[in-house]
Amino acid sequence: MKKIELALKRGLFYLLSAIFKRWFGNMPMIELEQKHIEGCEVLINRDLLLQKLPKNAAVAEIGVENALFSERIMTICKPAHLDLNDWWLDKQTYQTSLSRMKQYSNVTFHKSKSVDYLKSKTDNTLDWVYLDTDHTYPTTKAELEEAHRVIREDGMICGHDYTSVDYSGLKKYGVVEAVNEFCMTYNYKFLYLTHEASRHISFVIQKIKNP
Ligand SMILES: C[S@@+](CC[C@H](N)C(=O)[O-])C[C@H]1O[C@@H](n2cnc3c(N)ncnc32)[C@H](O)[C@@H]1O
Repeated sequence: MKKIELALKRGLFYLLSAIFKRWFGNMPMIELEQKHIEGCEVLINRDLLLQKLPKNAAVAEIGVENALFSERIMTICKPAHLDLNDWWLDKQTYQTSLSRMKQYSNVTFHKSKSVDYLKSKTDNTLDWVYLDTDHTYPTTKAELEEAHRVIREDGMICGHDYTSVDYSGLKKYGVVEAVNEFCMTYNYKFLYLTHEASRHISFVIQKIKNP
């Protein structure tokens, strides 16, 4: 009985792996070098991470949903300005975000696709961005490349879900693949990683300064 169960589990695993490959495509699995994580600090949650980020800064959160994290950004980081971008396909979620943030005069809503929002921004104008949209490899790769252009010289690119699968384990994420590839190609290193038990890890990366 145990043997049959094991064989069934194995079969199901191979089937799911094949389906995942077909749905999500092949992604580059790139190992970082030591220089990409040298000095990286590990923090227990996102609130602690926000405490480490520059205050009074020009910031964008990309992928906002109902603005719960936006509120944490406002409270902890007190940005000079916060752009909120999401395509808000759900009207109710959009309304919830608007009403949650209505007390702040330095917040601008941008209802569009993430990459279109980033493309609309001028070079070197934001201090940091937080990416948290669909977590697929192609979207994250495109967002990282645009964010690189939009942030200032010492700017930071942050994001959520530097992890392999979603809560149910049924959606393959491509954030690790996209971020690692980006760090190798654009010479960025990790400043911070969070360490939530859920493994919905946030990251902060910054361009490595030439010696
Ligand atoms: C995980 S939620 C964001 C959660 C929020 N950052 C937080 O921490 O509370 C992801 C959001 O990204 C939005 N989204 C997904 N793909 C997008 C895209 N390509 N462009 C713009 N928004 C997108 C969804 O509408 C959703 O509201």
